[in-house]
Amino acid sequence: MQHSNDNRRDTVSVNLGTRTYDIHIGENLLPETGRYIAPLLNRPFAAVVTDENVARHHLKSLETSLTAAGIKSASIILPAGEKTKSFTALADLCEQLLAAGVERQDKIIAFGGGVIGDLTGFAAAILRRGVEFIQIPTTLLAQVDSSVGGKTGINSAHGKNLIGAFLQPVKVLADTSLLETLPRRELAAGYAEVAKYGLLGDLSFFEWLEANAEILLRGDAQARAYAIHRSCSAKAAIVAEDETEQGPRALLNLGHTFGHALESATGYSNRLLHGEGVAIGMIQAFRFSEHLMHCRPGTADRIARHLEGVGLPTHMNDIEGPLPTTTDLVNIMKQDKKAQRGKLTFILARSIGDAFIAKNVSESAVAEFLTEDLKSK
Ligand SMILES: NC(=O)c1ccc[n+]([C@@H]2O[C@H](COP(=O)([O-])OP(=O)(O)OC[C@H]3O[C@@H](n4cnc5c(N)ncnc54)[C@H](O)[C@@H]3O)[C@@H](O)[C@H]2O)c1
Repeated sequence: MQHSNDNRRDTVSVNLGTRTYDIHIGENLLPETGRYIAPLLNRPFAAVVTDENVARHHLKSLETSLTAAGIKSASIILPAGEKTKSFTALADLCEQLLAAGVERQDKIIAFGGGVIGDLTGFAAAILRRGVEFIQIPTTLLAQVDSSVGGKTGINSAHGKNLIGAFLQPVKVLADTSLLETLPRRELAAGYAEVAKYGLLGDLSFFEWLEANAEILLRGDAQARAYAIHRSCSAKAAIVAEDETEQGPRALLNLGHTFGHALESATGYSNRLLHGEGVAIGMIQAFRFSEHLMHCRPGTADRIARHLEGVGLPTHMNDIEGPLPTTTDLVNIMKQDKKAQRGKLTFILARSIGDAFIAKNVSESAVAEFLTEDLKSK
């Protein structure tokens, strides 16, 4: 991983041999998209995939930038929200990309949050047996996590992200100015993934977040750029070491086994955003670690205080509406991609900044913990 900084702009490289790519981070990058991507194109054309909210706020600026660099574009606007990560939407997107004349050597631009990035990346992986793509993430979550690392995919009735492919983007442009139009709830949800990097491997970053979360969420550009840079660097290092999650990359799933089960149980609806599920799930992972006596009591409470302070839900009982039973949750977890031979894998922790992969966690231990946790608030 390498870093460079030209005052307002920052670059993190994801080192993957011939597939190495740069993440550019900074304010007002969008109007310069054409200049950044023109050298990557085989012909002056790119397809842009976005959703209706991002299109309303920012598509004109992107199209203007492409036009100014002599690049023709075709924009495809999809409905916003998690339900768009589906087979139906994938099929429709592939047909639209082909109708727009996308060739094997063209680039597709994923312009949106994690939903658009995951869906577009998967479409790129299978369209004409593989077309390259560029990520322009527009949510905090996508800028610190989903646009980096090459995991793409859609959800299944059996669970989240169960159908997909690995395809690294050829460039990522993280324009922090785009976050100004992001609703506060979405910003907080993305913040959960920022905190994740501190919790899984970097106590000093978590302490920095405890001190700076408020200004970061209020819009301090420097604090935002710093947090995005540090998150992307952490992710880039892990991805460079273990691209296809044979080992340490699984640490990035801290809180996700619990979180995904809750998202699935709430029907991927507005009741629980992905990052909110991760926030609750990370606290559960630390509580479970305490329950199994890996971690000092009080650690989960410290994390819960911090995440509650930024406006995130911190407990299953914070989710509005009826909650699934322990049995329902455990059954959903058995579909988790990390499950092996019927045994569950969890990311647990010895302390803040020291997470580890625990294989062979028994169903009964999880069920006992969840039953206790459901009663604890
Ligand atoms: N591939 C990965 O490695 C990875 C990692 C983490 C999460 N994810 C996936 O990411 C998804 C969640 O991503 P998300 O939180 O970005 O959700 P999202 O893409 O649904 O975006 C959230 C909402 O914000 C709106 N929006 C986006 N940018 C905006 C902007 N700049 N201004 C105003 N509104 C804007 C969207 O229209 C949407 O309504 C989940 O499906 C999750 O599984 C993937």
